[in-house]
Amino acid sequence: MEIKTTLLPESQRKCSTIKDAESLPFGKLRSDHMLLIDYAKGVWKDARIVPYGSLSIMPGAVALHYGQSIFEGAKAFMHEDGELYAFRLEENAKRLNVSANQLCMPEIPVDVQVEGMMKLLDVERKWCPMQPESSLYVRPFMIGTEDALGMAPSSTYTFCVLLSPSGAYYSGGFKHAVRLLVTERYHRAVSGGTGSAKCCGNYGQAFQAARFSKKYDASQVLYLDASNQYIEEVGSMNHFHITKDKTVVIPEFTDSILRSITSLSVMELLPSLGYKVRQERVKITEFLDGIRSGEIIEAGGFGTAAVVTPVSEYIFENGDILTVGDGGIGENTRKIYEAYTAIQTGKAADKLGWLQ
Ligand code: COI
Repeated sequence: MEIKTTLLPESQRKCSTIKDAESLPFGKLRSDHMLLIDYAKGVWKDARIVPYGSLSIMPGAVALHYGQSIFEGAKAFMHEDGELYAFRLEENAKRLNVSANQLCMPEIPVDVQVEGMMKLLDVERKWCPMQPESSLYVRPFMIGTEDALGMAPSSTYTFCVLLSPSGAYYSGGFKHAVRLLVTERYHRAVSGGTGSAKCCGNYGQAFQAARFSKKYDASQVLYLDASNQYIEEVGSMNHFHITKDKTVVIPEFTDSILRSITSLSVMELLPSLGYKVRQERVKITEFLDGIRSGEIIEAGGFGTAAVVTPVSEYIFENGDILTVGDGGIGENTRKIYEAYTAIQTGKAADKLGWLQ
């Protein structure tokens, strides 16, 4: 698809502002341009890169009322050779289409998405930060734009990609483990719902659980399934634990858990690092007993934004605290984090062909 490009004059570009920052927030800064593609009458058309700015959307747009809105999160990294490398954009594009199907939105061809993201990244290459743990975060999203209040899928859509030069998702980055609240009070998704889609409703509804978890000085809740028996995920990342015999266990991808591209990638990488990997339904009682007995030695989360995030403690509403291992960052979690990010940042060979 032809992509029309309307660029800001060089004198109005602001990318020098990120170079001197000691550390960068996650998701707050924007690059100078964005990609837009519109859909109407069954056709994606008018692909364009334009200066970043407001979208014109009618107040009655379906996305604003009925949540027909999906998104993705990907990353690009500047390597020492001075080139910008994007990480597995095709996987994100495929997953956006899975979400689109679940929300009755039109798919957008994977090659069109990837070409658009690559072209935008090329235009914005100077926006890629170089600070430790930083990246140029890529946020594609699609919204239903028809001005219609009848409860039905929109007939028109906009696909947009914005870029955000970002630091670590959890402040402090990898050196700080997070605490999770174990609660039966909130659930992220149910079977038959949209839990495996990256749709906005899944995230907006998680704010109340996050707010509740803050009362316990936790970062988020560890979501259980609706029967309160099995571990689901953390909302911003999948969950994992590591057993004494070096097995990494990730909850099976049911229809209420997002198929994290980081989890899938780490699973591909683990055998070469000497780990076994298993996906299964994880009973919360067995998980907690495993930590108490020392059978489970480390735990954490996998996600594009969160990368590999160690979890040090599980907190309970009665005030009890269960510490994983010695409460520090485990050597296995560190090894996985370092091997994974070394590929992303070009410090290790990309043998699995993840970068483009
Ligand atoms: C990502 O990991 O990219 C996500 O989309 C999670 C988001 C809540 C920051």
